[in-house]
Amino acid sequence: MRVLVVGGGGREHALVHSFAQSTLADRIFCAPGNAGTAAIADNIGVGAEDLPALLDFASREQVDLTVVGPEAPLVAGICDLFDEHGLAVFGPNRDAARLEGSKVFAKEVMREGGVTTGEYSRHETFESALAALSPDGPYPLVVKADGLAAGKGVIICHDHAEAKAAVESCFVARDFGAAGDVVIIEEFLAGSEVSLLVLCDGRNAVPLAPAQDYKRIFAGDQGPNTGGMGSYCPVPGFEQKAIDAAMEHVAEPVIAALRKRDVAFRGVLYAGLIATQAGVKVLEFNCRFGDPETQAVLPRLDSDLLELCAAGASGELAGVKAAWKPRECVTVVMASAGYPASSHKGDVISGLAAADAMDDVTVYHAGTAQRNGDVVTAGGRVLAVSALGNGFAAARQRAYEAVRKISFDGAQARPDIAERAVKAAAGELDLFPSGSAG
Ligand code: GLY
Repeated sequence: MRVLVVGGGGREHALVHSFAQSTLADRIFCAPGNAGTAAIADNIGVGAEDLPALLDFASREQVDLTVVGPEAPLVAGICDLFDEHGLAVFGPNRDAARLEGSKVFAKEVMREGGVTTGEYSRHETFESALAALSPDGPYPLVVKADGLAAGKGVIICHDHAEAKAAVESCFVARDFGAAGDVVIIEEFLAGSEVSLLVLCDGRNAVPLAPAQDYKRIFAGDQGPNTGGMGSYCPVPGFEQKAIDAAMEHVAEPVIAALRKRDVAFRGVLYAGLIATQAGVKVLEFNCRFGDPETQAVLPRLDSDLLELCAAGASGELAGVKAAWKPRECVTVVMASAGYPASSHKGDVISGLAAADAMDDVTVYHAGTAQRNGDVVTAGGRVLAVSALGNGFAAARQRAYEAVRKISFDGAQARPDIAERAVKAAAGELDLFPSGSAG
């Protein structure tokens, strides 16, 4: 099979890495890829959002299956384009990708499917949003730009001043451009978050193992939001019963609600869940593999990912189950100097080979490039270092051992990734008190 992976981050390196282990893969291309994918696939000089060039490449090179990593090309309709030209693709079409592309659309589909989520109001003007904000609260609350905003359009506001500033940034400063034309003001939900990635073929849905990610830059969940500073898989306390419940009460109703609208969801339905005291609710949907969850989920997968994605693309997931290694995985992201406000490019990275050679360790590249024989930083999140272990403590120790072997100027890594998983697995912390996981 000739496979094209669209994207160039850590998630895409993880996809390419898994595909490269499949006996079904004859040749793997990555567009545009990074220094990590270059070592195991053919990077092509085409950007992930250059839809006509991707179509042209896939047709010319007789690609059998395209798997799309990032949301932007999905929301822009890459799968519609490939479908129209008879090219197999694993990802949702434009209508289905609206689950991520429009928070209002996602809320409407959830209401139609009877899926529990935070209460919200919808606003098309600054005046309307402002009128909905009471100085007396309740706070915190969440202001969300409706459209895609590169992960920055969700603002948690702790008081009236912060909430006013957030709606001003959408409607007045236009910080999110057209993505902020519509805004939702949503209740703040407290609890443990779980990312459940579900492979879908338009009708059938197969859950992958649950994961948790870390969104803030600093230890203790402090500082600004990032694209994700680490993750782990599975999630202690979110066991098979909770996965089954999430499938029954979230994934399946949403897929059915979309079908009622004549929209088939094919690809990865990423359910961002939160286990509140009132039960599991949906924080958000994404329409793709999570990053960096994928880098912690795939090392544990014992099934052939390429076979699963091909079955998803061709509507053949009925009765399929993914198999898992009975081990834990911890992923620590290494980011470049200045991230997330900025990123530093061109810093030489050393120690990659030594870290990657460690048993049970995989170093996934994200923002890396090759320059004069060196691998250098080329983005905010540079690497995702994943380690498997028998237990979270062993996996975590191994991941940080690998991180310590790698260096580049200004490297940042959170020191506390999976600390809570270690405590939860040891019975010292209950991530899901009173059975909140369902
Ligand atoms: N880890 C969050 C995301 O993939 O959007």
